[in-house]
Amino acid sequence: MQIFRAEKTTPTEIFRQLSELDKQCVGADGWSAESFISEAARESGIVLYAAENSRIAGLICGCFGADQADITSVAVAPECRRQGIADNLICEFISLLPCITESIFLEVRESNSAAIALYKKNGFEQISIRKRFYSSPVENAIIMKKDLNKEG
Ligand SMILES: CC(C)(COP(=O)(O)OP(=O)(O)OC[C@H]1O[C@@H](n2cnc3c(N)ncnc32)[C@H](O)[C@@H]1OP(=O)(O)O)[C@@H](O)C(=O)NCCC(=O)NCCS
Repeated sequence: MQIFRAEKTTPTEIFRQLSELDKQCVGADGWSAESFISEAARESGIVLYAAENSRIAGLICGCFGADQADITSVAVAPECRRQGIADNLICEFISLLPCITESIFLEVRESNSAAIALYKKNGFEQISIRKRFYSSPVENAIIMKKDLNKEG
């Protein structure tokens, strides 16, 4: 399994597959191909995907600015889970952040125990709860943060 960075020149078909995977994994909140394209085209955007034999198994998407970064999406195809793909995507995402980045933030549904375990394993801590942040179904969001300078 290799990790690739989607960029302006990446074929549209890849962005279509990223959108399909995101929607398969998170439902209505999943991004459109156009949203992935615009994030990948931004200088401060990072869109990575894990693929083998041209099949996309996982993705991570986020952005950075000043001294902080945000992870906006992580998704791994159901049949490829528990193989360390999300772990690897998070590591690669962090390695691409500018060295002035001090913290990374993300939001996760309160009931999403798999994702919460993934983020905790990768050094994220809960910092607050945003009540009724999500719709369909309505649910609280847990806000998590990782301080990069803590671990050196
Ligand atoms: C959450 C998700 C991205 C994890 O992807 P993954 O590739 O299976 O994760 P990894 O194999 O890299 O697992 C890394 C760690 O995360 C935790 N984890 C992952 N899935 C888990 C599960 N189902 N239950 C408990 N812990 C889990 C474990 O700590 C695991 O480490 P371990 O295997 O050494 O125990 C995947 O389940 C997914 O796509 N879910 C649907 C989309 C989603 O919820 N995205 C996050 C939105 S905020």
